[in-house]
Amino acid sequence: MHARHLNEQLVRVLKTIGYDVGFQKGQGQYLFDRDGVRYLDLLSGFGVFAIGRNHPALREALKGVLDSDFPNLVQLDVSTLAGVLAERLLEHVPYLDKVFFANSGAETVEAAIKFARGATGRPGMVSCSHSFHGLSYGALSLMDDPNFRSGFEPLLPGCTQVPYNDLAALEQALSSRQVAGFIVEPIQGKGVNMPTDEFLPGAAALCRKYGTLLIADEIQTGIGRTGKFLAVEHWNVEPDMVLLAKALSGGHVPVGALLTRKHIFDKIFSQMDRAVVHGSTFAKNDLAMAAGIATLEVIKQEKLVEQAARRGAEIRLALTRMVPGYELMKEVRGKGLMIGVEFGPPKSLRLKASWNLLETANKGLFCQLITVPLFKDHKILTQVSGHGSHTIKLLPPLVITEEDCRWIETAFDDVIAASHKVPGAIWSLGKTLVDNAVRKSA
Ligand SMILES: Cc1ncc(COP(=O)(O)O)c(C=O)c1O
Repeated sequence: MHARHLNEQLVRVLKTIGYDVGFQKGQGQYLFDRDGVRYLDLLSGFGVFAIGRNHPALREALKGVLDSDFPNLVQLDVSTLAGVLAERLLEHVPYLDKVFFANSGAETVEAAIKFARGATGRPGMVSCSHSFHGLSYGALSLMDDPNFRSGFEPLLPGCTQVPYNDLAALEQALSSRQVAGFIVEPIQGKGVNMPTDEFLPGAAALCRKYGTLLIADEIQTGIGRTGKFLAVEHWNVEPDMVLLAKALSGGHVPVGALLTRKHIFDKIFSQMDRAVVHGSTFAKNDLAMAAGIATLEVIKQEKLVEQAARRGAEIRLALTRMVPGYELMKEVRGKGLMIGVEFGPPKSLRLKASWNLLETANKGLFCQLITVPLFKDHKILTQVSGHGSHTIKLLPPLVITEEDCRWIETAFDDVIAASHKVPGAIWSLGKTLVDNAVRKSA
């Protein structure tokens, strides 16, 4: 049905790499396939399952809403649950005062672009190279990745990119005083690129100097993922807008939230005839609001922010210890449970020939030689961090246990060791993937 009525190419991809196992059940950090085999999920639905799949507290909250006779989406009314969720979110970000709710990450980014332009009266938006902000037109306009942009241009005018971690380039871009907002992921999701210690505080200072609003896209990094409620807390930065989505949904009901300062919000919703100047029919719906409230409660009760910091440090330490032993392994980086494992060209001639063959056929294919056996042999679901990337990203539910950390360590060690054996099963897999790619393009 999927191949016939939905995305046929996705079905082909899953079959080619052997991921068509037909998942039947999800519980916490685990997935179960059609044969009942258990998998450890290090993808967590692109970061939405911070509290794990099908958390009982979330279920109860949603059932509670369904069993009630709440009026929901009256529109000419204000909902209690939205007020409660806004208040609970702002408790975590006390320097901000207002919340705007949306239905997805991209929709939250769209709101940020409109609010920045509306509040400053300026046309420009600056973002970083290699960023990811979503695939709707405004969000896509903030990204320079040709894989996503190609075929869809022209995009929104006035959007430019500066290299991540380049304060001089940022200053040059902002100095025109025509830039409404600088939007940045505190840690870039694509590639798990880390900011230098100076970058975010420096960017905040430049934004203040030139009257540009600083927008932190914490859609992936927020709500505990990096071991703090917001990733910007690692660098003591207080943005003018904070964007959240993904994990706030509890994995059940999509929701996005833009948190900002009162004076910015009031410029948009400035008088009664502008009370509905921006919004969306389903935003603030009771199920989404209840999901958000329950998610924040679980995160607090189960101390998941602290847990993310602790487990993340354990995994990074274990993986970092492997680096000197494996010439294809370059670096392990990240914060909390947002971890990147980077691979790169080998030094020895023995491996070089195989690496070059693979990379010439398809840049970034090497990482599939790690993720596919992790999945097939070790039952770990993980992802390559972007097109042509040499980094594998670990984004597990924040509820993973010490035992899961050992599972990750053993599996990575085994698969990476196998990738250093030429000839060997891993490089045969590489050949199969290349042959497949060639056959498809023929
Ligand atoms: C940092 C960031 N911003 C925005 C988005 C877009 O969110 P959504 O897919 O919910 O539209 C994503 C999604 O991966 C993201 O990682």
